[in-house]
Amino acid sequence: MGCPVATESDRRYCKGVTTELELRTRPGRTNLDWFRTMRDEHPIWWDDSTRSWNAFRYADVSAILGDYHTFSSDFSKVFPDAAEFTEGNILAMDPPHHHQLRGLVSLAFSPKAIAQLEERIAALTEELLDATNGNDQLELVNDLAYPLPVTVIAEMLGVPAADRPLFKTWADALLQRPNQDRLDRAALEDVTRDLDHFRDYLHHHVERRRAEHRSDLLGDLVAAEIDGHRLSDAEIVGFATLLLLAGHITTTILLGNTILCLDEYPDVRAALRTDPRAIPSTIEEVLRFRSPFSRTARVTTSDVQLGGQHIPAQALVNVWLLSANHDERQFAQPEEFCMHRNPNPHLAFGKGIHYCLGAPLARLEARIALGILLRRFDTLRVDPAFPLEAYANSGMNGVKSLHLQVQPRGPLGEHTG
Ligand code: HEM
Repeated sequence: MGCPVATESDRRYCKGVTTELELRTRPGRTNLDWFRTMRDEHPIWWDDSTRSWNAFRYADVSAILGDYHTFSSDFSKVFPDAAEFTEGNILAMDPPHHHQLRGLVSLAFSPKAIAQLEERIAALTEELLDATNGNDQLELVNDLAYPLPVTVIAEMLGVPAADRPLFKTWADALLQRPNQDRLDRAALEDVTRDLDHFRDYLHHHVERRRAEHRSDLLGDLVAAEIDGHRLSDAEIVGFATLLLLAGHITTTILLGNTILCLDEYPDVRAALRTDPRAIPSTIEEVLRFRSPFSRTARVTTSDVQLGGQHIPAQALVNVWLLSANHDERQFAQPEEFCMHRNPNPHLAFGKGIHYCLGAPLARLEARIALGILLRRFDTLRVDPAFPLEAYANSGMNGVKSLHLQVQPRGPLGEHTG
């Protein structure tokens, strides 16, 4: 069976060049064999070590994300200590409060509103690449993939983008944690302590907005009312923390994952150089193939039967997006990278009421950045002299740094890779 793409010429872009072994040991691909075994043999699995259920198949993951009545995002229902940590965090809310808060910012993140940022994102990308001074080496994360999305979200919120080294220090501390056990009190306290840095910083900016209105996202949240009530400082800060965190690190990973995929599939890179119109569908395939967020989680509100298993009420369920996106029951040839895969109903941005608010922004940033990278550099290859280091946190599926060999485009514009 070939790739699920239209033509024979499309099909040849699905051919990988790196060895199978190399592919399976690169960040973003390491757990795929295990996921396949789990999908086949234990699609709904109780893990005693983390005291959690785990769902691996596309159909189950999809069903869980689509049913917020049974599979809640509000962890404080099971673990009251989580309440403080989740205030204002719409990811950890159920309706009706979730709908109310999401409604306040959804306009700012609509595809139409985001499209207006195109010029700014392109200018920032060029500026960041200009700063590398025509070097023949880039560290993609430091030079572009981190500063680009964090500057965009900081500007939307209205906090100084110059503070981004601070956000990075705090975000790195959070993401260094390998343990993501949401019901573990000590782990939760550690996370809360790391988040306090973000919260103190944003609290200061909220206070300034209360003194003097400005038309940015923070200003809008300060002025917003739900049923005649203003949002509390803690709610605004919690919401803004989520936007600042979710708004940068995931897109950073997506950009790194895109370059890793193009490195493994040079035919795709060559095809994109001649036809940049295929960039959007290629980014969708990266999202499926190397999903930046490998999992999310829910808690059950009642006993439920799933995949032949009985899951009791108040149980933690890990929902493996990366496994669902490689499920052969849903995707033909899931281990092949098909730049024209259509349809491509991947779950990298989730599904249902919590579907990623920032998806249009992440897509736009990735499309613009990739287009500019391909236009500016004749050579764009992962530098084998530097080992690839994955995040310790198993939920974040990407590399912490990505050293590239690049060659700025020559006058003849010939491409070498
Ligand atoms: C490639 C980049 C990104 C990926 C892969 C991603 C992934 C996700 C996923 C899987 C969810 C749903 C989680 C769940 O259901 O438990 C989510 C929710 C969310 N994302 Fe993203 N995200 C990305 C970029 C962004 C950006 C750029 C922003 C904002 C600027 C953002 C803001 C949010 C917010 C606010 C939610 C919560 C939505 C809700 O609960 O209603 N994300 N994201």
